[in-house]
Amino acid sequence: MNTLKHSLPTAVSLLALAGAAVWGGTQLASAGVSPDSRPVAVNQPLRTLAALDDLRIGTATDPTLLSTDPTYQQIVGSQFSLVTPGNDMKWQTVEPTQGTYDWTAADQLVAFAEAHGQLVRGHTLIWHNQLPTWLTTGVANGTITPDQLKALLHKHITDEVTHFKGEIWQWDVVNEAFNDDGTLRDTLWLQNLGPDYIADAFRWAHQADPKALLFINDYNIEGTSPKSTAVYNLVKQLRSEGVPIDGVGIQGHLGTQYGFYGADAVAANMARFTALGMDVAVTEADVRSILPMTNPNLQAEAEGYNTLMQGCLLTRRCISFSIWGVSDKDSWIPGVFPGQGGALLWDENYAPKPAYTALQVDLASFASRHR
Ligand code: XIL
Repeated sequence: MNTLKHSLPTAVSLLALAGAAVWGGTQLASAGVSPDSRPVAVNQPLRTLAALDDLRIGTATDPTLLSTDPTYQQIVGSQFSLVTPGNDMKWQTVEPTQGTYDWTAADQLVAFAEAHGQLVRGHTLIWHNQLPTWLTTGVANGTITPDQLKALLHKHITDEVTHFKGEIWQWDVVNEAFNDDGTLRDTLWLQNLGPDYIADAFRWAHQADPKALLFINDYNIEGTSPKSTAVYNLVKQLRSEGVPIDGVGIQGHLGTQYGFYGADAVAANMARFTALGMDVAVTEADVRSILPMTNPNLQAEAEGYNTLMQGCLLTRRCISFSIWGVSDKDSWIPGVFPGQGGALLWDENYAPKPAYTALQVDLASFASRHR
């Protein structure tokens, strides 16, 4: 688990910068300079700063908030250059009744993204959660045989990827396929289709939209661990077999109570994947705490985000950094981890937290990292 403490010097110096250089009323990141040596102003929207790093910065979205909450809409539209539907592309949402698709919420998000100059991460084609009841029931009672399940999966992937063809930058094709010990998770997919379901899924997705980047996505893989090594070994095998897989999604669900891998350890782990020719992305970052959000928790939260962001910025092929939501009011954490929360960049009243400033400083400090 995440037991290592941060160790990279820049983590410390960047944190110090967060409250440091001020010039003409604007915070400056003197550690990072643009090619013409002018410091980059820190106090700019995340997406503006991320563009200087050739990085897309994203958030998971909620369709109700996006259509009813002006502050939420304003933040999503102005701070982010990438969006991921939190739930709206999951199988349960898009095919609640067998044979009847409902793309409404997902289509609205794609339209929002286009109107705001954002790209879209598709999430997710295969998962063991949020499957339609007709599917799980059918498998459980034997009315859906393994052969039929394989055909249904093929159809699901083909139909969904085709529906959004040309509109999705990155697809999470397979989500959370591994246990923490590195064995394959014992899901309905593994039980009925065997381990080949993973390669099949990537091939089918590629056939439906050859230009989309296809990702395998999981949590607890930001550092080197049995699970991230298992993902590494699988990706290596798939690449050697010519399976069309392009990227590794590092979810990045952290907790201040566990401590974090340092940015250097995150970058070293990402480098394993990029050495295989893969892109990497941080896909679902959040840093929860045991409530209440004390000042130390707020600082630790910022440090957790720093480790992921700096690890990403140190990695040339880390192409996007997405956060799993906007404000603590709307985070999935309290519902799933009772007594925990405070995991996002804005608090319940949409006030930006230290973690927000920390990411601004990180992004400004690494400006022009590729030049
Ligand atoms: C979560 C959503 O945020 C919640 O709204 C939903 O109730 C459960 O799923 N890993 C994933 C995401 O890959 O799809 C999950 O999203 C969070 C954990």
